[in-house]
Amino acid sequence: MINTGKDHGFLWQNHSKRYGIQNGQINFFKDKHMKWYENESFWQTFGVVLFNDSKVEDAKNEVKQLLDLVSIPHHSKILDLGCGVGRHAIELSLLGFDVYGLDQSRYLLQKAKEAALKKQANVSWVHNDMRNLSFKTQFETVMSLWTSFGYFEAPEDNTKVLDNVFLSLKNGGKFIMELITLEAFERNREPVREFNMGEYTLIETSLYKAGSRKNRFTWTLLKNGKVQATETVSHWLYSSDELVNSLKSSGFKKVKTYGSLSGAKYDDDSHSLVLVSIK
Ligand SMILES: C[S@@+](CC[C@H](N)C(=O)[O-])C[C@H]1O[C@@H](n2cnc3c(N)ncnc32)[C@H](O)[C@@H]1O
Repeated sequence: MINTGKDHGFLWQNHSKRYGIQNGQINFFKDKHMKWYENESFWQTFGVVLFNDSKVEDAKNEVKQLLDLVSIPHHSKILDLGCGVGRHAIELSLLGFDVYGLDQSRYLLQKAKEAALKKQANVSWVHNDMRNLSFKTQFETVMSLWTSFGYFEAPEDNTKVLDNVFLSLKNGGKFIMELITLEAFERNREPVREFNMGEYTLIETSLYKAGSRKNRFTWTLLKNGKVQATETVSHWLYSSDELVNSLKSSGFKKVKTYGSLSGAKYDDDSHSLVLVSIK
């Protein structure tokens, strides 16, 4: 069920006009400049399915794969950029790494803190916008997982994130990105997709226009067949070559590509791209 915000007073303090419930359905009252990813009620509503138990469980194996793919020094400092509810940050912390989880959503960070407390994981949670990252030569590893890149309207804001990550890494440090690419998206795109998760159903309707370079879709969330909320989401789509070139322009000297965290080859069967860049 929709969390009314009572447990998270800050949501109402900071975003009191952002949504209301009418006939059991959530209506978003966004100011026209607010982007979908800045809307706390978006994460609060759709977070139930995006970060459900099975997705959180998946992170254990993803972290294992990641550590097999990339050698990361024991106890070293890792930044999880756009950490969400801390799926990967918490697992890495339990393995002894010094983990920082950064996100712009106070709601998701609160969920992350609660999960970490439950699992007795010690993560440093940072509330910030990845465009304003100000860490300098601090991390051995930075990671951006599950398409947490390319959300900003202005292309230069997205490249600024890569510049910021470069500056935040120590020499020899690694940046691991995992995201959907333009070519993988175009190969695998379906007009409508339906995901059933217990009492919840998420319906994704594509609004993609070929050549637009943006993945745009609506998500409609149903609970027991009843519509709870609808939101339009969009992010930039970059080709593998464009990403490699952007990373190199930001200063990374080597960039390796894979088709998954398991280290598979990036090819026509891949659904996403993993980039491992070395400063
Ligand atoms: C698809 S979720 C992925 C979360 C996490 N990496 C995972 O795998 O579960 C994208 C995340 O990026 C965060 N995000 C979006 N814009 C951001 C920004 N400007 N600065 C920091 N985090 C941001 C969102 O709040 C969300 O947690």
